[in-house]
Parts: sequence; structure tokens; C-alpha cells
Amino acid sequence: MFTETGIDVKKAAELLRKEELVAIPTETVYGLAGNALSETAVAKIYAAKNRPAFNPLILHVSGIDQIERYAIADAHSLRIAGALMPGPITLLLPKKDTVPDLTTAGSDKVAIRIPNHPLTLALLKQLDFPLAAPSANPSGYISPTTAAHVQEGLHGKIAYILDGGPASIGLESTICEVSGHRILLHRAGGITAAALTEITGLEVALPEATHGPHTPGQLKSHYAPNTPLFRGNIEGLIGHYPDKKIAVISFSKSYADRPQVSSYVLSPSGNLAEAANKLFATLREVDAQQFDVILTEVFPEEGIGPAINDRLDRAQFLHK
Ligand code: TXA
Ligand code: MG
Repeated sequence: MFTETGIDVKKAAELLRKEELVAIPTETVYGLAGNALSETAVAKIYAAKNRPAFNPLILHVSGIDQIERYAIADAHSLRIAGALMPGPITLLLPKKDTVPDLTTAGSDKVAIRIPNHPLTLALLKQLDFPLAAPSANPSGYISPTTAAHVQEGLHGKIAYILDGGPASIGLESTICEVSGHRILLHRAGGITAAALTEITGLEVALPEATHGPHTPGQLKSHYAPNTPLFRGNIEGLIGHYPDKKIAVISFSKSYADRPQVSSYVLSPSGNLAEAANKLFATLREVDAQQFDVILTEVFPEEGIGPAINDRLDRAQFLHK
């Protein structure tokens, strides 16, 4: 199969109606979309990504009025939807029977979001079904923030890539679930815990680690480059690798004056949103070269910082 890239929303809609796969732009990362109500299309998504069958998919819909077709929404969740959708937020809700079990990997909950990208919103409005869309990367690798990234990982496996330019946020959505009098933060992202509290008045908690494989983001090695990546105090880490070719990915400080080091600064002005936006593209750029190690640091725990730290945590080299 030849994978074409273009901006033809009508063509994308036609392919999706025929249960083919199309990569779609969103403000977070590119998604690998198929008809969420078609088991044929959903099975193709798992196959194209080589995704484990126990890892459920997010439903993408065109408007808040669509949510209750597929899920049971409580008042707090609807308040979050009203305040933040379309935007980088995903709600985990009790699922209705309209959603095939394959889409949620057998879970009785469904994750739903409204992506904030004009091309994808236009596409969703042309369709009479929601789109299941995980990030458009082979399972385990770094999420794509450009159409070219999608081509790198999935060419030959999908029909079409709808090119909406580089993602404006660059990290995946925040995933949250209203549970009793708390909000469980399943995945950190563009929306902060403080924003969720402000909207609902509810306290935000991390889910317990005992929820099993259906809990999002519990897969250990994820977002991982092939080059070993280590995190900590960069000065100290550089000293550990005297004879190695080192790539340093830092927040705002340059390490270009160090021998053996290629320095990648995500935001010279110290802006976390800019750093988040450049993170995945920089990881890919570095991983495509012949470095022995990638060294990086812990980012400030404010704004989108916790989401950056979460992704770098999972990108670290795991000793098998
Ligand atoms: O920003 C995003 O959310 C992007 C764009 C494309 O929308 N999508 C995305 O999808 O990051 P994916 O599949 O790469 O990550 C979704 C996460 C996974 O960790 C999955 O386990 C979790 O959401 N998830 C999806 N449905 C779930 C469900 N029913 N119950 C628990 N976790 C769920
Ligand atoms: Mg993903």
C-alpha cells in the first residue's frame, strides 16, 4: 500500500467510510484513525501499530453533544467538557453498548476527546461515526508531531496522512476520570491538575498502581528512543560517559562547550510549553544519529512540566 500525504479532507472521509486507516492531525500529536464503530477498522489499527490487544483506543468526536451517544457522563465530566473541549483533554467514562468491545479492549469504560484542529474537526463533521485514534506511531516508539514523523513509522501500512502541519502542543492529552469526589489523573498532559480542580472544585489524585493493564500509561517502556536515554543532573551524567558520543537534551541551558557533547536546548528562554512542543521531534532527530547515549534532566513541575517529566520517565533506558 502506498501512503499518500495531503490535505484532502473529503478523500480522508471516503477512505474512513471504507474502513481504511487515515492519520489525522491534532493539537497534541498525530492520531492513527479508523471508524471506532467498525471492528474491521479497529483491528487494522492494532495491526498497523503492532499494539498489544489489551491497550484500549481513544474515541474522537466532533462535539460535546456526541459524548452521550457513546458514554454515560456525570455532571462534573460535562463541566470539564464544557470548559476544555475541543482541547487536549480526554475523559474516561462508563461506556455505552454503541462502542464495540474491541475499541476499548474489553473495558467497560471508554476514553473520549474532541481534538482541537480545524482539519480534523472538519473531517469528523463529515462522518456519521467517531474515530478511534491512538498516536500514529509504532507501539512503544515516540509519538509523531508532524506528517513526516507518521510517514517514518507507518508508510506502507495506512492509506492516507492528512497533513495539518506540526502539532501545536506536541504532547498527548491529559486523561482524567471523575471517580466519586475526586478526579483521577491517568495521564499528565496539556491540561494541568490545577485547571481541573478550578473547573470542578474536586481534588485531583493519581490512580493506584494496582488497576492492572487497563490503566492508561502503565506500559513501562513507552515513548522510547532506540538510543539509551538517562536522566538526572546533566553535569554529573556527562562525567559518567568519558569516551562516549553524547547528545544532551536540556531545558534552557546549553552544553555545547563540552567536548563529545552535542547540545539540544528545548527552550533557551525557559518556556515549558515551547520545550514540550519540541520534545518529541528532538528525541527523533537525536535518535536518528549515531549517539551512544542521550542525557536529559528533570523539568520544573509546573504547567506542562509534569507531562514532560512523565514522558521522559518512560523514555529512559530499561535494563532488561
Ligand atoms: O492526545 C492524545 O490523546 C492522542 C491523540 C491522537 O488524540 N492519542 C493518544 O492515544 O495518545 P494513545 O492510544 O497513544 O494513548 C491513549 C492512552 C493509552 O495509554 C490507553 O491505555 C488509554 O489512553 N486509554 C484509552 N482508552 C482507555 C480506556 N477505556 N480505559 C483506560 N485507558 C484507556
Ligand atoms: Mg501512544
